[in-house]
Amino acid sequence: MADPRKLFIKTYGCQMNVYDSERMGQALAAEGYVETPTPDDADMVILNTCHIREKAAEKVYSDLGRLRPLKAANPDLKIAVAGCVAQAEGAEIQRRAKLVDLVVGPQAYHRLPAMARRVDEGLGPQLDTEFPEEDKFEHLPEAPKARRAPAAFLTVQEGCDKFCAFCVVPYTRGVEVSRPVVRILHEANDLVARGVVEITLLGQNVNAYHGAGSDGSWSLARLIRALAEIEGLERIRYTTSHPNDMTDDLIAAHGEVEKLMPYLHLPVQAGSDRVLKAMNRRHTAESYIRLIELIRTMRPDIAISGDFITGFPGETEADFEATMELVREVRYAQAYSFRYSPRPGTPAAEAGQVPEDVKADRLARLQALLGEQQAAFQQACVGKTLAVLIEKPGRHAGQMVGRSPYLQAVHLDCDAGAMGQIQPVRIRASEANSLAGELDL
Ligand code: SAH
Ligand code: SF4
Ligand code: F3S
Repeated sequence: MADPRKLFIKTYGCQMNVYDSERMGQALAAEGYVETPTPDDADMVILNTCHIREKAAEKVYSDLGRLRPLKAANPDLKIAVAGCVAQAEGAEIQRRAKLVDLVVGPQAYHRLPAMARRVDEGLGPQLDTEFPEEDKFEHLPEAPKARRAPAAFLTVQEGCDKFCAFCVVPYTRGVEVSRPVVRILHEANDLVARGVVEITLLGQNVNAYHGAGSDGSWSLARLIRALAEIEGLERIRYTTSHPNDMTDDLIAAHGEVEKLMPYLHLPVQAGSDRVLKAMNRRHTAESYIRLIELIRTMRPDIAISGDFITGFPGETEADFEATMELVREVRYAQAYSFRYSPRPGTPAAEAGQVPEDVKADRLARLQALLGEQQAAFQQACVGKTLAVLIEKPGRHAGQMVGRSPYLQAVHLDCDAGAMGQIQPVRIRASEANSLAGELDL
């Protein structure tokens, strides 16, 4: 038998790309490819790209440059660009980087094996950035029945209809589509049978989930309640949500479904109503704060996380101060923040821009405040005993790393045999981006 061909995948961007990379790996495994940890000896390289900010998109071209010597040494090496840059730039990628054999968008990657075969047949570079009628998930092979790491992602919803003025996602991922309930339950049961105890439901706008169920369309809350019935599945999370789709049944689930973890990533982007309006967010600072209060009445200890943009076109110092005020009021456990990056084809890219040094200065001030809040949240965990899902070996011998209910990384000394178990861990110290603890048996 011929040696298996080697596949190297590099993933940029969000968790949905992580999930997609896994599915592309499975699709190509059915064609005899095995994954390899470096591009050096690969027969095929996939860059699964992100278009959300300019830096992320440009990184793809520098990485392609680095692949040039490999392609020169092995002309049979196939190079594929997948993901959101593939969708946004399409044939432009092949014009800018001649070494690219395959360009495939996020809704068409089930066709990747067939495209790769066409390259093998000498039919030249291939491109597919369609939004096909068929559901790609229905056309992808199931995962091999091997055991897996204890925490897994499961995409339940894709695309976005919100069209925030700064964002490329509605263009790169297309309209909102929800996967049917039975498919999700089947996949979740399969994950659990292979050792998974925690599932994070993914969607660009996951709380807008409205998949076909046994009796009409189901909400995310209903899906979560059904998943909670699966024996062996201990923890459920979901990301990313939009404030306007935080329905009452989902908020109630946070108080009622024990397996639903007390962590919510709920981006707000800005704290000035003027800026929120210009961003087309369709909520106000006040409505967001009220929403957080309501969620906290259901689940008082919930860890709130968010996304922020500084220097959106037209943002004044007073607008930015309103963002700082909102942050002070909400008290985040953790957050992501970015300088505004104009994206081609989005409405905000046309507007008058805030100077880079102003964006950077505001970002630094915001991050200092968010950092203080994260440290305070972590510090409040010290001395407590938290249920930690032991996920993988840590940096030192005898050390393991797990996750608290609040999604914090926790490292502790324990036996590697504990992997996949949820153990009580007494938190000893708060460190930069993690907690340190010991088993509290
Ligand atoms: N669907 C999610 C997040 C999508 S992208 C939501 O509705 O919030 C993840 C984050 O990237 C966004 O929340 C936003 O904070 C940031 N982002 C998106 N476009 C951006 C841009 N043009 N410049 C800077 N940050 C951006
Ligand atoms: Fe982008 Fe999220 Fe807005 Fe959709 S809701 S346009 S994904 S920021
Ligand atoms: Fe990036 Fe596309 Fe995700 S633009 S953040 S990879 S949806």
